[in-house]
Amino acid sequence: MISFHPQSKNNTDVTIVLLTAEHTHPRFKKVLEKGELYPLEDSSKTFLFVGLGKEDKLSLTDLRIQVRKAFLSSYLSHAKTVEILPHRRDDAAIIAIIEGVAIGTYAWDKYKSKDKNDKTIKDKQITILIEPKKLYTDVLAICKGVTLTRDLVNDNADTITSEYLEKIVRDLIKGNKKISLEILNRKELKAKGLNLHLAVNQASNKEPKLIIVKYNGGNKTDAYTAFIGKGMTFDTGGLNLKPTGGIETMKIDMAGAAAVCGLLKNTLNLGIKKNLLFVLGIAENSIGSAAYKPGDVITGYAGKSVEIGNTDAEGRLVLADAFAYVVRNYKPGKMIDLATLTGACVVALGFDYTGLFSNCDELARQLIEASNKTDDRAWRLPVYAELKEYIKSPIADLKNTSSIKGGGASTAAKFLNQFTEGTTWAHLDIAGSSYSEGVGRMYFGHGATGAGVRLLTHYLLNY
Ligand code: BES
Ligand code: ZN
Ligand code: ZN
Repeated sequence: MISFHPQSKNNTDVTIVLLTAEHTHPRFKKVLEKGELYPLEDSSKTFLFVGLGKEDKLSLTDLRIQVRKAFLSSYLSHAKTVEILPHRRDDAAIIAIIEGVAIGTYAWDKYKSKDKNDKTIKDKQITILIEPKKLYTDVLAICKGVTLTRDLVNDNADTITSEYLEKIVRDLIKGNKKISLEILNRKELKAKGLNLHLAVNQASNKEPKLIIVKYNGGNKTDAYTAFIGKGMTFDTGGLNLKPTGGIETMKIDMAGAAAVCGLLKNTLNLGIKKNLLFVLGIAENSIGSAAYKPGDVITGYAGKSVEIGNTDAEGRLVLADAFAYVVRNYKPGKMIDLATLTGACVVALGFDYTGLFSNCDELARQLIEASNKTDDRAWRLPVYAELKEYIKSPIADLKNTSSIKGGGASTAAKFLNQFTEGTTWAHLDIAGSSYSEGVGRMYFGHGATGAGVRLLTHYLLNY
């Protein structure tokens, strides 16, 4: 639990004192290096001095990292109550401190046995020593959406099925009068001709689902903004089976849909005053004799035929049907999708940046601005007219793979762009940014990061 209060209490177990090189504390005159932790024991409590280095060299990312480091240190493991004395009191610094705690201390340990001798206190009462403010409680709420997304991405593929995601959505929207729900299961997908979506799920024993939540938080005449998430509950690659080294993390291939759930949670908690659509395109890309096949030609909801160059380029197929269905039946003014779409995006940008593609400079600018503000990082990559040449097929209207080597994130975006039907659109390729392997990176530990949730919630609050 995190709360805000301007006055320190005497009976707190640990007070974290954030110190830049320029600042000293009455109890402590030493100048600490960035990352240095220095505990001072009093009779009943501990002061933990945390070195932040020189103020002008301290980024807000650094600040999140240092706050996280302090919390994960052994000095805090037995503390029940913790205070944080900020080195600065401006909003950007306080937000970074909040996120350093709320995002930095997240750990996925559901399946780890508990050591009986471990006396670590996980559930701490944390007070940031500052006057409370709506902005801060909003940031805390936003972090809860990030946590939901991370939990969904981190859990087993056979736990987070389409049925499970449907239940998550139903629980989130329960009793809300501003919401209506449409769910297309196998039967409806068939009847309406979302054959690309169905093809991807063909070898799975699980139900494919297109879930559409309509949220009327704005004026009657306001156009809808649609958020569409790729929800591949597992991506084996299909008959173009992924190799060892590529398949192990593919439970994360629903991180786009999970981010849409996080965003929905935040929208409801913050009472966003906009008309929005939350869309989850859910399938499982399995193998077996029923699987769709390389060389197949399939016509989806938009009426365009697609040659299957590779069954592992499945995300764009599910999204193509979702785009066409949403555009034709809901006519959104804008559409933003999130998808773990391409390994090529990871090659281009690595893991710290989401790839942003858009057919609208203004929308792209706003999203980059939101990304800079939230440290939920995104970098724009090109999607342009000539790419269309590379996804042509001799036997169909288009192909789900590119005829050229290189630029795979852009050709995938171009494929999606063929189904936007003139709608203002942005695509966030979160293949690299949604997950961190090993010991983690920046202020994220191992596992899901919740990429896109802070960025898009900020976008909804400010644009
Ligand atoms: N889900 C993958 C993309 C991915 C790769 C996500 C690595 C996270 C980490 C996607 O469905 C895929 O396999 N894309 C192929 C496309 C190719 C066959 C044209 C890829 O990127 O290799
Ligand atoms: Zn794939
Ligand atoms: Zn995939």
